[in-house]
This record gives sequence, C-alpha cells and structure tokens, in this order.
Amino acid sequence: MSDDTRILGIETSCDETAAAVVENGRRIISSVVASQADLHARYGGVFPEVASRAHIETIYAVVEQALSEAHVGLESIDAIAVTRGPGLAGSLVVGMNMAKGLALASGLPLLGINHLEAHVYSIWLVEEEPEPEFPLMALIVSGGHTELVLMSDHLTYQRLGGTLDDAAGEAFDKVARLLGLAYPGGPAIQQTAEGGDPEAFQFPRAWLENGWDFSFSGLKTAVLREVRAHDPDLEAGVEAPRPGLPISDLAASFQAAVVDVLVEKTLKAAKEFNAVEVLVAGGVSANKALRSAFEARADLPVRVPPIALCTDNAAMIAAVGHWRYLADHRDALDIDVLPNWPIAR
Ligand code: KG4
Ligand code: ZN
Repeated sequence: MSDDTRILGIETSCDETAAAVVENGRRIISSVVASQADLHARYGGVFPEVASRAHIETIYAVVEQALSEAHVGLESIDAIAVTRGPGLAGSLVVGMNMAKGLALASGLPLLGINHLEAHVYSIWLVEEEPEPEFPLMALIVSGGHTELVLMSDHLTYQRLGGTLDDAAGEAFDKVARLLGLAYPGGPAIQQTAEGGDPEAFQFPRAWLENGWDFSFSGLKTAVLREVRAHDPDLEAGVEAPRPGLPISDLAASFQAAVVDVLVEKTLKAAKEFNAVEVLVAGGVSANKALRSAFEARADLPVRVPPIALCTDNAAMIAAVGHWRYLADHRDALDIDVLPNWPIAR
C-alpha cells in the first residue's frame, strides 16, 4: 500500500459540470469539464433552471469519463469531494446528490468543499512549482465573488473583505452586455480591449480606503452613462452591435479601472499582513491585463493558475479534498448544500 491519496472531485456550483481525479492534492490524473456557456449565452448570464437541468443530464457521464480517463474504479479512490457552496442551490444539489450516491454505494468518505477555497487551491495543482508558502494573500475573483483572504496555514482563512455589490466577473459580464458583446463577458472585453486605449475614459476607481472591501457598481454605471451619451436610444441588456460606439476604448478603460483597484488593494493588504506571496484565482484571474499588472507592480511573488484552472473545474475541489482528508475531516451523508457559504473558518 502506498501513502498516496486519490480523491474524486465533483463540481456543479454554477454552469460547468465537472469531475476530476487528483493524486496527493497536486497531480491531476483526469479532469473533465462540460461547459454550459453556449446554453446561457442567449440570456447574457447563467439561467438557474437551465443550469440545473443541464447538470442533471450531464453529471453521470462526466463522472464516468473522469474515472475512465484516470483508469481507476471507486475501489482505488480514498474520498469523494464535492462542492457544497457557495453557488446556485439547484445546481449544487445535483453534484451533492451524485456524490452522496457514490459515497453510499462505495462506503467512501464524503467531503463537502467550499468553492472559494477550491479556487485558491487550484494553485497547488501546478505540480512543477513548489507549494505556496504561508502566510499568503489570496484574491479570489470570479463571476460571483471578489474576496480578499489571508491564509495563515492549510485550510485556515481570515476573510478581509469582498465586494459590496457586483463581483469583478459580474462587472465584466454586465459591461460586455452594455457594449453589445457576447457572454461570458470577461474574455470578450479582454479581446475588445486589445485594440483600445485604457486612458481614453477616466472611469472611477472605488478605493474604499478604510477597509478591504470592493465596489464595482459605480464603475458599471459610469460605463452606462458613456454608452448612453453615444447612443441615447440604448435598450440595456439587448445584445446587438452598437454602431458608432468606441467599444475598444470603453472596454480598455473599464478593464484598466477594475485591474487598478484589484491589484493595488491586494498588494497593500499583502504588505500590511506580512504575506510572503500572493495567489490570484477564479475566472477573472485569466485576464491578461490583470496578470501583467500584478507582475509589473508587485515586489513579492504573485502566482496565478494556468488558464484552464482559472475557471470552474473539479480538480481544484479534489485538491482541497486531499488536505481535508488528511486532516480527518469527514462529512455525514445528510449534509445540505450551502448556497451562501462564506470562506472564513
Ligand atoms: O470562476 P468562474 O469560472 O465561475 C464562478 O465561480 O463565477 O468565473 C467566471 C467569471 C465570468 O464572470 C467571466 O466573465 C470571468 O470569470 N472571466 C474573465 C475572463 N475569463 C473569464 N474575466 C476577465 N477576463 C477574462 N479573460
Ligand atoms: Zn468559480
């Protein structure tokens, strides 16, 4: 018998149905992600009922594929880790029920995992790099969250702050809609911004100096005002090309404002709490401008996962499962999903 752990991870918190097998919390043996982005594109965002139905249709095949690509059966797995929250209730229960069924049938332990901590642990899956060191400052930026978290050890978090209104990814998605760009908005804005001038528009930065919170709704309103100035008949939310609108400059200036606030506040917090490194994770960490700004402005190491691990996946869920399994964490088979589960513990 080896001491290696092998964890099956399952993730269905939003619009990706995913399963993965990870060894020792660091080595991805298989990782399957079925994206529903095409299904939701016409709504300009994730439509909850459509999401849960799609999870139900896909989950079984996705888990089977993850196990078969890893060439293992459940008898070679040590535990089943599943996203317990935060996320859409109707989506979370699909993964949770699948995990409970497998745990019941196999007798394997069930581990309910926080989706936000899993984003941070995506960095551990970059196997060729040394493990991150503590204390570290983690910025989690996704479609649903913008969280600044001090991590003093494995599984030990102090939440410093988060968004008071829109999440960073949500701001990208909403502004993309205003500019007539497709969902998901982050990649669309990034691409459109490439030909634009980030200083063309001086959009507001909400510094909220007295704490570690963020706010992006004022920025979104400022972009809306600019769009209306060019196009008084604008019908918000209708995705269509907007002739005459300087979308490249607007996208670049909006992106620069988001990046400025995220980078400056994270680096300031890292300094204040004596962090030895910074981890950036979640869908928005795929953003090129954000990555290069961190690289240019930081005087301590900043790590960002490879693009495939920035957005939702189950390998990161299995990675947390490894450390929870070693820490003797076990969940009962009747646990509920927690759609609003904060990361602090
Ligand atoms: O982590 P994630 O896949 O799902 C959540 O847990 O929310 O993040 C999705 C979010 C979306 O809002 C999407 O627009 C944003 O990440 N995103 C990006 C980029 N790629 C994805 N935002 C900015 N730039 C990108 N390249
Ligand atoms: Zn996520």
